[in-house]
Amino acid sequence: MNALATDAVSPPRTAAVLLGTGVVGRALLALLSTGAARDIRLVGAANSKRQHAQPDGLTPVDVVQRLAAHRDGRDNAALLAALDDSGASCKVVVDATACAKEAGRHAEWLAAGYHVVTANKALAGGQLSGWRALQAASARGAVYGDAATVGAGLPVLSTLRRLRRCGDSLLTLEGVFSGSLSWLFNQYDGSRPFSELLLDARRLGFTEPDPRSDLSGEDVARKLLIIARNAGFALGSDEVEIESLVPEALRDVDTATFLDRVKALDAPLHARHEAARAKGKVLRYLARLNQRGRARVGLVEVDASHPASRLSGTDNQFALTTTRYHATPLVIQGPGAGPEITAQALLGDVLSL
Ligand SMILES: NC(=O)c1ccc[n+]([C@@H]2O[C@H](COP(=O)([O-])OP(=O)(O)OC[C@H]3O[C@@H](n4cnc5c(N)ncnc54)[C@H](OP(=O)(O)O)[C@@H]3O)[C@@H](O)[C@H]2O)c1
Repeated sequence: MNALATDAVSPPRTAAVLLGTGVVGRALLALLSTGAARDIRLVGAANSKRQHAQPDGLTPVDVVQRLAAHRDGRDNAALLAALDDSGASCKVVVDATACAKEAGRHAEWLAAGYHVVTANKALAGGQLSGWRALQAASARGAVYGDAATVGAGLPVLSTLRRLRRCGDSLLTLEGVFSGSLSWLFNQYDGSRPFSELLLDARRLGFTEPDPRSDLSGEDVARKLLIIARNAGFALGSDEVEIESLVPEALRDVDTATFLDRVKALDAPLHARHEAARAKGKVLRYLARLNQRGRARVGLVEVDASHPASRLSGTDNQFALTTTRYHATPLVIQGPGAGPEITAQALLGDVLSL
């Protein structure tokens, strides 16, 4: 039996609305149908064009089909009203979009008393003013669940907060924060053109449909900002030096043109690879934050003893050097992308409210 059907009679403790029914949103809908989510009532869901709200509960597995059939256009007020009308004491907006406009509302929702659980990095990893608005709004009591914004399900932000509560401070941070860039450079040994690997990664679903979103380094920079800010560094988005792997001539063309001309990546990356190989090193796309708050994301030559040189698949790696993890860093490593583990991180944040 569906978890919702059992709880639909009396007010639930927790009611949620879901924004985004893409890869991650659908994986979350599947988890909401399991016993682990029996105490959560889903009262609304939306994609970019349509939404459906029902204070006495939606059946998660039917949501995508219902949205396809439904005529209601997007209006967040109706979704928030469904949360209010549910009678739940704990009301949550779950953001599984990449939409900057929706992220721009996170602070407003928190200030109004709705908890926000998000995989969307656009606000916390965007302008510093947005981050500050989030801090001010969550100080009023509602909780910002951001586990899914960094490392998918890996316990990066929770570990950092725990260390901070104990008085431990982040000194430096280094790692591989992108599953697609991890895979690409774990594979790339110069024997096949980089563009061929990139097209393979795209076919396997490791990159965004437009791989420039991954290659630009912007997403890695947003994750670096989120970790750094959670560690107490008031870092502006313009303070991260970003090395984009997209040649300048291909930055403003449409996706199809980029894919047609993707071989332009090959020669420069081959030259970088050969230069690294001559020194016995390999290339990794690293994010780095030093003790003075200097932040950079980009391609780095690392030697065989570097922890990032031993990564495999799409693994992420986060090496935290703190006042107490000083001699060697605390390393968190594992799958850092994928719809199911990202959805689980969202569910975990909702359940811990
Ligand atoms: N995929 C992963 O492994 C992964 C891992 C960690 C974090 N994330 C993050 O999770 C988020 C979702 O990723 P995804 O892979 O699921 O993306 P996706 O497949 O592209 O899905 C995005 C969904 O958001 C919807 N949407 C866009 N604007 C909206 C709006 N204003 N209101 C409501 N819905 C809206 C889209 O609607 P339509 O269906 O109408 O287009 C779509 O359903 C992103 O922020 C991503 O960075 C993803």
